[in-house]
Amino acid sequence: MPGFDVQQFRQQFAFFQHHPDWVYLDNAATMHKPQAVVQAELEFYQISNSNVHRGAHQLSQQATALFEQARSSIASYLNAARVHEVIFTSGATAALNQIAFGLMHTLLQPGDRILLTQLEHHANIVPWQLHCQRHGVIIDVVPLTPDHSLDLQAYQDLLALGPKVVSFSHISNVLGHIQPVAQMVALAKAAGAVTVIDGAQGVVYQQPDMQQLDCDFYVFSGHKLYGPTGIGVLYGKTSALQLLTPLLGGGEMIEQVSFVNTTFNKLPFRLEAGTPNIAGAVGLAAAIHWLQKFNNKQLQQHKAELLREFYQGLSHIKAVDILSSPVHNAGIVALNVDTEHPADVAVLLNQQQVAVRAGQHCAMPLFSSLQLPGAVRFSFAAYNTLDDVNRSLLALEQAIEILTA
Ligand SMILES: Cc1ncc(COP(=O)(O)O)c(C=O)c1O
Repeated sequence: MPGFDVQQFRQQFAFFQHHPDWVYLDNAATMHKPQAVVQAELEFYQISNSNVHRGAHQLSQQATALFEQARSSIASYLNAARVHEVIFTSGATAALNQIAFGLMHTLLQPGDRILLTQLEHHANIVPWQLHCQRHGVIIDVVPLTPDHSLDLQAYQDLLALGPKVVSFSHISNVLGHIQPVAQMVALAKAAGAVTVIDGAQGVVYQQPDMQQLDCDFYVFSGHKLYGPTGIGVLYGKTSALQLLTPLLGGGEMIEQVSFVNTTFNKLPFRLEAGTPNIAGAVGLAAAIHWLQKFNNKQLQQHKAELLREFYQGLSHIKAVDILSSPVHNAGIVALNVDTEHPADVAVLLNQQQVAVRAGQHCAMPLFSSLQLPGAVRFSFAAYNTLDDVNRSLLALEQAIEILTA
């Protein structure tokens, strides 16, 4: 098999032709889109635009076919047992809100427990909290070890309390650490819990196999998988989806409506109220088709090489405190410079056209536990180059020189 050619890969992203002077290392926030995705959305609007599932006309039937083909492509990418196990949402946040709301009205009773971890994104904390407080459900939290990994012994101890739901991220959006999800799912299932995986950062690292992983739910956003914004996926096993009370009511998700009662449509429509993001679904399927032309192992090896070089460079820079471990890392490095505020470091990097994110990265409980105001986050993608690594290291040195002068 030919080696991975990063320049050829990068050329497929028009963004970099428009911004040749920028080093983009904010991929954990959102990724750029290859031309194949831009073209698929454009063509949908130019050629195929109509509403889905409701038109008597042929144009609507064609749009419906494209939308449902997109669902099938995603189901097959995830190795879902059934196509209706893929529910389209606006993103990971919407999917987690649907799961939390849906289970709170069926599975969870006052006094029940759910288990989260210390490093969750707010999207996997707040939706639970919104309902837990009102319904008297208790949230337990898996702490971290001193090297910022999940404390798996504490995880097992907390599972012994019998949580009804366990929800955790596949990859930390702050640290980049890859969680041992297969082991965590197996342990949670043995404890009788419903398992939810926040795959927002995980889906681009590894093609997740739902039947092998055997989790109940896995969610992600299209825009972190080279796809469009405003589209995401709530994967659920059929039995798990049946536990969910719909969060949104409206057209499409119903079977019969009267002012006395409503009966719901079958899956997946029961959980997709209103007109969906049709072009977004088509764009996400295009992203997946495009991605499948590459060997994911090669993409991850390239990212690992960038990470190795970045860590190597950091080891020569004084005053840097690295929060992320280089092992089991999917390509994200969070760090601080002495006692400088992360926002100040990011401003100086921005002035040198290096795009990173600074702050608490929607993970305030993580930073509270670390007793830090935040961190600067460098997140790599397969289209980044060794030149990006070198330029970001130089820019960081320059920023440190200015801040500590
Ligand atoms: C781990 C994790 N979960 C959830 C989300 C929320 O994703 P979105 O804002 O696309 O809904 C993010 C976004 O950064 C994330 O990194």
